[in-house]
Amino acid sequence: MQKPDTSHLRSAQWFGPNDLTGFVHRTAIQAEGISGFAIKDRPVIGIANSWSELVNCNIHFKLLADAVKRGVLLAGGLPLEFPTISLGESLMKPSAMQFRNLMAMDVEESIRAYPLDAIVLLGGCDKTVPAQLMGAASADVPTIMLTGGPQEPAYFRGKQLGVGTDTWKYADELRAGKMTQADFDELEANAKPTAGHCSEMGTASTMTSLVEALGMCLPGTASIPAVHARRASAAEATGRRAVEMALADGPRPSEVLTREAFDNAITLLVASGGSTNAVVHLLALARRVGIDLQLDRFHEISERTPRIVNVRPSGEYLVQELFRAGGVPTVLKELDPLLHADAITVSGEPLQHGYASAPAPDGVVVSRLDDPFDAAGGIAVVRGTLAPRGAVIKRSAASSELLQHRGRAIVFDGIFDLGRRIDDPDLDVTEDSVLVLRNCGPVGAPGMPEWGMLPIPEKLLRRGIRDVVRISDARMSGTAFGTTVLHVAPEAAVGGPLSIVQDGDPIVLDVKNQRLDLDIPAEEIERRLAEVQLPEPRYRRGYGRLFIDHVLQADEGCDFDFLQGLPDEEPQRMPYGLISGWQGGW
Ligand code: FES
Repeated sequence: MQKPDTSHLRSAQWFGPNDLTGFVHRTAIQAEGISGFAIKDRPVIGIANSWSELVNCNIHFKLLADAVKRGVLLAGGLPLEFPTISLGESLMKPSAMQFRNLMAMDVEESIRAYPLDAIVLLGGCDKTVPAQLMGAASADVPTIMLTGGPQEPAYFRGKQLGVGTDTWKYADELRAGKMTQADFDELEANAKPTAGHCSEMGTASTMTSLVEALGMCLPGTASIPAVHARRASAAEATGRRAVEMALADGPRPSEVLTREAFDNAITLLVASGGSTNAVVHLLALARRVGIDLQLDRFHEISERTPRIVNVRPSGEYLVQELFRAGGVPTVLKELDPLLHADAITVSGEPLQHGYASAPAPDGVVVSRLDDPFDAAGGIAVVRGTLAPRGAVIKRSAASSELLQHRGRAIVFDGIFDLGRRIDDPDLDVTEDSVLVLRNCGPVGAPGMPEWGMLPIPEKLLRRGIRDVVRISDARMSGTAFGTTVLHVAPEAAVGGPLSIVQDGDPIVLDVKNQRLDLDIPAEEIERRLAEVQLPEPRYRRGYGRLFIDHVLQADEGCDFDFLQGLPDEEPQRMPYGLISGWQGGW
């Protein structure tokens, strides 16, 4: 068998030179008990593992990494696993989103700094996936992703649970006095039965599905359950493919993440009733590879794309049922007329190749395009005097009768004010009120936490009311539902119009006509804006300060301003290009 050409590999720059530099690099590897033979003339595959005991969704990643390594070894490569910081949606405060860009920097710089020829990303929980994609996109070394898969469904009193969606519902039942604390405790003990990410079409399942539509993973791998044997075999196949990509020097992320790939991802997002958080992440990712993706593109695609996936919170089922119905390939196959089917993927084949043999829609979990669950896609963009740069609403998870609504504002100045007053019996609230939460955006919170699904005031809950219009500069959990306008830009903390809303001001939401307006005279808006006093920044030092100083608004993806665009440095070079002579340190 002919030996593949390995002279172009990045790792050859570290391990190849027959001088003191090469000696230092080779001996560092041999110190781990890896032989010189193992690093000679073969691709080194980095496995970026977001395993952490602080991230329950990714807790099975050591096993997956072992399966990836098996694939790499079978294909003749050397796998080297490395940790990055990991972002656990449930435990990380004030918000995992505050650290997405930090993890992206960790991933990018680890890839660039080490002798790696191709990368396998292991991500699952909400922010780990976009963070890894963003970092790998900027490093632009051949990269393939393996996502962690959804956890097994939980059951409570014989009923299947979507852990996020149903938790919100049962929490409201508890507050309404319709559920006992003992029952709620039993729910808690059963809510998350296995490893894996949340199994509704929340942010994690949305993002992992979009990885497939973007072409950044092997086809058919996104919806395989976390504990299914096929996930490990997918990991093995991913490792094998990474070796091929290293030898072929591609495709690189910049070749896969094209404008067409983003259109494909947005089409799947809105057809699935997926998470609004994906809007922010796709905007950020696109800008990493120099694509000026705009918020309006989401609305345009949503208008032309029916919702054909019946998974919670927009529908009835979980991702396990989607997997059994054919998974993402079945959805993409049905969406084919709306896709750029020839977009190149990490498999080396066009997107269409991955779904060509997928089963037809079953009409239950996945519908046909001509008989959809909703005529339009799940996400709409609104603008107006209250959101000059736009805001988003997941209309597929909203109350249809509230999508055109005029009501009086009740304003909460941040999360603590909300917590203090939302259940106050004297709160002057009716089902027509519009609840406004501000100072919860990228700069204001900071980190734009998932606080946008404001709880329904207890006095309304007790009257059986389960939804009112809510508006904020925050995000909301992908598993949540309700008539919630999110990501208002510019946010209150940088002087956006949300900062001037007063209790009792009329607000008009008109999703059909894409409007969100503070319905007071223009001169009064001008007068109030001129008097806005910006809040003191929450952080004066450290990463928090860096974040506040450089984070972009929601309509630009909340990335740091200095991380947009591909770096000037050619990724194939060792940083600083010093490939001979002394440069190591003992
Ligand atoms: Fe990790 Fe939902 S908490 S995916």
